[in-house]
Amino acid sequence: MDQFKISGGRKLEGTVRISGAKNAALPAMAAALLTADPVRLENIPHVRDIITMAKLLAHMRCRVESPDIPPSSFVIQAQTVSHAEAPYELVKTMRASVLTLGPLVARFGYARVSLPGGCAIGARPIDLHIQALEKLGATIHVDHGYVEARAKRLRGATFRFPKITVTGTENILTAAVLAQGETILENCALEPEIPDLAALLAKMGAKIEGAGTPTIRVEGVEQLHGAEHAVIPDRIEAGTFIVAAAITRGNLLLTHCEPRHLGAIIDKLKSCGVDIRCEHFSDGAAGLRVRGSGKLVAADLTTEEYPGFATDMQAQFMALATQADGVSHIRETIFENRMLHASEMIRMGANILIDGNSAIVTGPSPLSGAPVTASDLRASAGLVLAGLVASNTTTIDRVYHIDRGYERIEEKLRAVGACIERISPGLEPNAGDEV
Ligand code: EPZ
Repeated sequence: MDQFKISGGRKLEGTVRISGAKNAALPAMAAALLTADPVRLENIPHVRDIITMAKLLAHMRCRVESPDIPPSSFVIQAQTVSHAEAPYELVKTMRASVLTLGPLVARFGYARVSLPGGCAIGARPIDLHIQALEKLGATIHVDHGYVEARAKRLRGATFRFPKITVTGTENILTAAVLAQGETILENCALEPEIPDLAALLAKMGAKIEGAGTPTIRVEGVEQLHGAEHAVIPDRIEAGTFIVAAAITRGNLLLTHCEPRHLGAIIDKLKSCGVDIRCEHFSDGAAGLRVRGSGKLVAADLTTEEYPGFATDMQAQFMALATQADGVSHIRETIFENRMLHASEMIRMGANILIDGNSAIVTGPSPLSGAPVTASDLRASAGLVLAGLVASNTTTIDRVYHIDRGYERIEEKLRAVGACIERISPGLEPNAGDEV
């Protein structure tokens, strides 16, 4: 398994181009199942989860082409799908495979998708996805670890999500667009990835109102056609690099990002003393200038659904809090087990008290490099940030976690001054090797 080796203590200075959002690209790729026409998607990040989704669609006999290397755009065509199934072997590596359930049953009347199972951060059931599909008239059987959904044709209905779910909202939205009649979805997730998905669906001919608000109204249509769409920038990658500039006392310009998607994150980090300013370029693109020169001060944090502070930025914030002056109280409210990075940061010298889903971080604590292990995608990002500021060398194991959601992160970090390299075991540089 690949590792990262980081020599900490360097300021990051320069420009980082933010990639397209993995969590916008995944539902967009699944939505291509809704039409027999080609769907072209741009600004797709080259990350492991995208490759997995491409494999899954190819397994279903879709045409999946990426005209460029490394792939930043995909053409997906589900002319016919002879295999409306998402097998466990693929689903267990990426739970977002469940996003194929809605479009498959909506277009083909049948889907068989492996239950995703839990992951490091929690049980992550899909009971709400299933409840909503049943309300739209699907017959659901769950056995042998698979969800089987059948429907002659889904019927529009009103469904209120008992709990806000991002992929649940996306799954049902992509089912409702082909249902007979009107569907009203209430208590929907508001994350920017949902209006982005609705924008693609509208280009394909869907009739949707209210995406990005708690109530989404869909008028079902008989069929959808092909479209072209560029997905939104990755707000979590942008947030991660904002923290990277702050924690190393550096100065970064983030380009191709969308500051409007980062409101709560920018506000919270500004309250910690991070200097963050919007920059607008001649071509109309927006960027963020981040300076970490000032004193970092502690701040309390509670993760919330959008537009609150994203749970996917909690580990990164914790890394920063170890360097801030004072006591930060961090509360995780979305997932039941998303503090695994804390114990690794403690091994690096952080002063963190964990109590269930809460952490009390007292800083600043000088961190010293250590061998640490990544447990999940965003925990690994938190450990990279800690390694950037730790003295000596930090070795992070199991970086396949970070490869799931960050495009070439070590290259982007090296390009702005970080001393980080990827080590593929068996290729460990010898003492005399140039490293
Ligand atoms: C999406 O996961 C994201 N993944 C996650 O990002 C993100 O952390 C999460 O939303 C919250 O923002 C993608 O978009 C691919 P949820 P999702 O359904 O949709 C419970 C990353 O790092 N729940 O909003 O799976 C669930 O257990 C990943 O990129 C049910 O109980 O999250 C959780 O406690 C990690 N039943 C809460 O709701 C259900 O049927 C929110 O989960 C569905 C969810």
